[in-house]
Amino acid sequence: PQCPISIDSSKHVYTNAGGNGTTLSNRNGSIKGPSEKVKIEENVGLKREVGLTGSIAMIVGTMIGSGIFVTPGGLLGKVGSVWLSIVIWILCGIVSTFGAMAYIELGTVVPSSGAEYSYLLEAFGPVSGFMFCWVSTLILKPASIAIACLAVAQYSVDPFVDDVKDVEGATKFICVVSIFILTYINCRSVKLATQVQIIFTIAKLVAIAVIIAGGIYKLTNGHTENLQFTFKGSNWHFGNLASAFYSGLWAYDGWNQLNYITEEIKEPYRNLPRAVLIGLPLVAVCYVLVNISFLTLISPEEMISSPSVATLYGNRLLGIFSFLMPLSVVLSTFGSANGTEFTSARLCYVASREGHLVDFLCYIDVIRNTPSLALMFNSLVAILMALVLDINALIDFFSFTAWIFYGAAIAALIRLRYKLPDAYRPFKVPIVIPYFMVLLSAYLVAAPIIDDPSIEYLYSALFMLGGLVVYIPFVQYKLVLPGTNKLTVFLQLMFNVAPPSLSDA
Ligand code: ARG
Repeated sequence: PQCPISIDSSKHVYTNAGGNGTTLSNRNGSIKGPSEKVKIEENVGLKREVGLTGSIAMIVGTMIGSGIFVTPGGLLGKVGSVWLSIVIWILCGIVSTFGAMAYIELGTVVPSSGAEYSYLLEAFGPVSGFMFCWVSTLILKPASIAIACLAVAQYSVDPFVDDVKDVEGATKFICVVSIFILTYINCRSVKLATQVQIIFTIAKLVAIAVIIAGGIYKLTNGHTENLQFTFKGSNWHFGNLASAFYSGLWAYDGWNQLNYITEEIKEPYRNLPRAVLIGLPLVAVCYVLVNISFLTLISPEEMISSPSVATLYGNRLLGIFSFLMPLSVVLSTFGSANGTEFTSARLCYVASREGHLVDFLCYIDVIRNTPSLALMFNSLVAILMALVLDINALIDFFSFTAWIFYGAAIAALIRLRYKLPDAYRPFKVPIVIPYFMVLLSAYLVAAPIIDDPSIEYLYSALFMLGGLVVYIPFVQYKLVLPGTNKLTVFLQLMFNVAPPSLSDA
């Protein structure tokens, strides 16, 4: 795939001579832009800058967000017994690992960035790819960023107020500020964003280690009354189980992160599988142990009624250092949002390069080599969402829609086995895994609708179909809205961006 550089150089400030470097000139022919000290990259484009540590941090650091600190109570409430909830946490870990294994194969067969988008495009053609990028760039990705930053904000004010609902204005303000900071970090440099990801991942792993160490200590001191092995009180209703799975799977979500940036991973055939096979089991073990640890100090009833299990646990375990727990949640969710910001911009970038989104979204900052316009676009949508919507509404919509596409992408794996039988597959999953995952996603998508048909599902289906209405004029017939060229020129002048070099695309 190549960037649709249908660019008229008389209108565009930066033009790209197909990999021969970026020329800087404006319409008057004078050079405008960076000072002499600043090096302009010869070939504008995203480079392979993410190594194994960065890759593991991208997966682990996005998966561990606020979910594990907040959802255990809700999940327990849905299934009714401690051990059924632990079983669900284990199963969610296995399911996510299966999903990620299928994605390793997909990532090596279709080595472009963009995950689901690129796989659907390759297996089922442009309409399915477009539908995904439509829903994902406008809803799923910005929603993940908004949800994480709202959590950052809530946990930053939590230690100072009685009820976070009383200070909604302040919460939204902090949320918007965090989105700005993330955007800045990611526009600044790929290296900086990766370093931030690594540091925050280490921080959250330390927090989790503290929780688990506390749990082990309490267990050895005989605090096992909440952990008696029994499934008494379990609620096996299929709708409840689906909803419990959603809570668990939300905490594990992010297992597909690396596939969005395949083109930026160093030695992807080696590092992608390694990062997944190290990261996923690590997260699953942490999650199960964290749940057990919570139960050493918190009764199931308290867990169900507490809005934040981690804070309660921190208060009981850490005494005067209890503030460390909300602080850890802030760091954890901020890191998770950073990972999502990083990858969602790559989705925009790839889809725009393919001609499925406006051209300028694949433009790259000529000095810093970051997809700055895509990053800013994502953040803008995320800010709008954070301002008008509430977290729970966002999470519900997210999970339902996300699983439609996870299922579809894994179906693409099956299709590609037939369509490209001879493709290089250094990592081939046993075929039962993708079949199982497709069935599971069908269950996850259908169960809540059958159980409690609510209008929201219809809205989300309509929104997806809305993609088709946009596809026909704008992608199929290449309709360009008046003013698009002017806007592109303006953005180039304003943000020093250029289309990626063909050689890099
Ligand atoms: N698992 C994360 C959490 O528990 C949420 C991840 C959302 N998904 C994503 N791709 N960023 O907070």
